[in-house]
Amino acid sequence: MDNLLDDLRHIETLDKSCMLQILKRFPEDCRSAINRAKKVSLEGISGKRFTKIVFAGVGGSSIGGKLIIDWLWRECTVPMVLSRGYHLPAIVDDETLVFTVSYSGNTEETLSMLEEALNAGAPTITVTSGGAMSEIAVENGLPLISLPDGYRPRAAISHQFFSLATAMHELDLVGISWGEVPEALSTLEAIRDEISMDVPQEENLAKKVALRLLDKIPMVYGSSLLEGVAYRLRSQLNENSKVPSGSGSFPEAFHNAVLGSERDSEVLGNLALLLLRDPGDDEGVKRKIERFKELFTPKVGDIIEVEARGSGKLARILSLVYFGDYISTYLGLLYGHDPSSNVSIDKLKQV
Ligand code: PA5
Repeated sequence: MDNLLDDLRHIETLDKSCMLQILKRFPEDCRSAINRAKKVSLEGISGKRFTKIVFAGVGGSSIGGKLIIDWLWRECTVPMVLSRGYHLPAIVDDETLVFTVSYSGNTEETLSMLEEALNAGAPTITVTSGGAMSEIAVENGLPLISLPDGYRPRAAISHQFFSLATAMHELDLVGISWGEVPEALSTLEAIRDEISMDVPQEENLAKKVALRLLDKIPMVYGSSLLEGVAYRLRSQLNENSKVPSGSGSFPEAFHNAVLGSERDSEVLGNLALLLLRDPGDDEGVKRKIERFKELFTPKVGDIIEVEARGSGKLARILSLVYFGDYISTYLGLLYGHDPSSNVSIDKLKQV
């Protein structure tokens, strides 16, 4: 087990859908997503006035919208909402920009929200690799940003995120934050050189973290900017590593999750706290995270901290998404799973 993550031949046999190869081209995929989305005509949408923005999608296809909300929280003056169910919120009207996102294009919740967007006369942009969603888009003349084939939905996050971000930029909704994109992409390239599969375990932070998470239940926390990243990592741990996991955010966790420290080590010993640290955190948050750690340290199985990289918010967000995607993939491999397998999700979709 100790050197399994350096045994590339063994890893290849487990990683049947090549999650690690996909992760390796993450920075290039971000660039190609931007170019691809820029070519899509937004006729019928450009020039309209939007009073709200809604991102509609579930599971892996909801993450891009959440990351955009976190990234633009302090800059975008149009309210943004994430919708992850069968129904859109009642605020949706003909001044609401709706993005419907489904990698397969066949997810029933998202198709239901697309139908509601059409009924509400909302300007709607579809983001999908095909399926019923692309057919509905063509029938109704909706802009369609195509996601490339060959990915698990969660593994297409680079394409998904930059499809949404680029369309919003083209509609003048991103503002000066778009200037953060080059730094974010070069930060991802630098991280790849440190944590990709060919970097041996003793120098590879993502492999080391995965090893520390073995046989533990990971609880992931990030500060407000990283709320979506923490949620993403918890979902990736569920989906790629096939482990139960929870997530939360600071400062909110100081007002609820901290009380969990009152249980004894018999219960808490199974947990590993994975703290996503942002150098841009408010001083109050930094101080309280130290106290939070002190309370849990004697009882939990482990406390692991991973720091965001880069100076812009986008680099800080995407750097930790990238670390987390690698960590969860390595952990799945350590457990002997194909990180891309989706047996339980596929079964439930048939119910
Ligand atoms: O990552 C996954 O495979 C899932 O979380 C899917 O994203 C989720 O089931 C929704 O499917 P789709 O993205 O095809 O709409």
